[in-house]
Amino acid sequence: MSYGRITGWAVNLPERVLTNDDLSKMVDTSDEWIKARSGISSRHVDGKVTEMSAVAGRAAMEMAGLAPDQIDLLLLTTTTPGQRLPASASVIQHELGLSCGAMDMNAACSGFVYGLVTAMQFMDGGMERILLIGSDALSGIVDWTDRATCVLFGDGAGAVVLERTSGQPSLLGWDLMSDGSAASILYCDHGGTIVMHGKEVFRRAVMAMTNSAQNAMTRAEVAPDEISIVVPHQANVRIIEASLKRLEIPMEKTAIVLDRTGNTSAASIPLALVDALDKDRITPGDLILMVGFGAGMSSAAAVLRWDPPTA
Ligand code: UT7
Repeated sequence: MSYGRITGWAVNLPERVLTNDDLSKMVDTSDEWIKARSGISSRHVDGKVTEMSAVAGRAAMEMAGLAPDQIDLLLLTTTTPGQRLPASASVIQHELGLSCGAMDMNAACSGFVYGLVTAMQFMDGGMERILLIGSDALSGIVDWTDRATCVLFGDGAGAVVLERTSGQPSLLGWDLMSDGSAASILYCDHGGTIVMHGKEVFRRAVMAMTNSAQNAMTRAEVAPDEISIVVPHQANVRIIEASLKRLEIPMEKTAIVLDRTGNTSAASIPLALVDALDKDRITPGDLILMVGFGAGMSSAAAVLRWDPPTA
């Protein structure tokens, strides 16, 4: 159990939108195929991780009412940093005027939950305020001639401010997992583009999501019917449907943004979380199940009790 609660949140998406119809002019595909096989209608492209993260991070800090010198750590989860070095977190730190440690973490599409769990450990160690950002610009590493992958991915950033509380614990249970034996089914070499064995990723994704979610709920001593909302990684609505069926949680309890964002990797869970908050789908005391999976194959889940700041 951990005692960091989310007190500010924001997202950023790049301006340029690419619809399925736009894609059908670039590769041999159709709006019908993409929607039916993935649930995606459009995605934002041409983003830069440092720029999107700075915008989202600044807005999350403003919402939390925190000045830059009050942040104790910046954690950026990304699989598409702007350059090999320095860490993109350092670039964002400077942009935001922070005076604290800053580092990148890469757990592919499970990154945000890995980052959340990591941030909570720092808070349990005494840190007071952490800015956690999940951001990816996959449009820059997609092969735009490969219809099997280019229709699935997009760019975005989501940021949350975590603050230590002496009240009730907020992170009730979590699970982090990786199966490196499956590294070859989804990868991108330095300077290359995404290579994916879609069917195999799909099959393993459903198993990984289900296992991770079950482990986190067991550790939190929470039953599936006690979960108020599931905030899953946004890769394919069919993966989410199949996983929730196994978990016996109804689809109405899911936050979905992939129809208009595509798969934004480390940004997808905070994008869906903020969308659910904007729509007033989460109220104080609610139990949120976040669950992600991705290249690695990595997977991660967290059960969080929603404990927003009082007005
Ligand atoms: O964050 C994790 C990242 N990745 C994922 O989560 C992806 C997991 N996998 C998937 O989401 C699905 O496997 C896909 C959406 C990638 C593909 O769906 P599928 O139902 O597994 O389709 P498929 O790969 O079996 O392809 C079916 C057909 C094939 O044609 P044939 O061999 O049946 O003639 C493909 O060539 O669809 C064809 N196809 C397309 N057709 C139109 C593949 N891509 C496209 C396309 N448009 N974009």
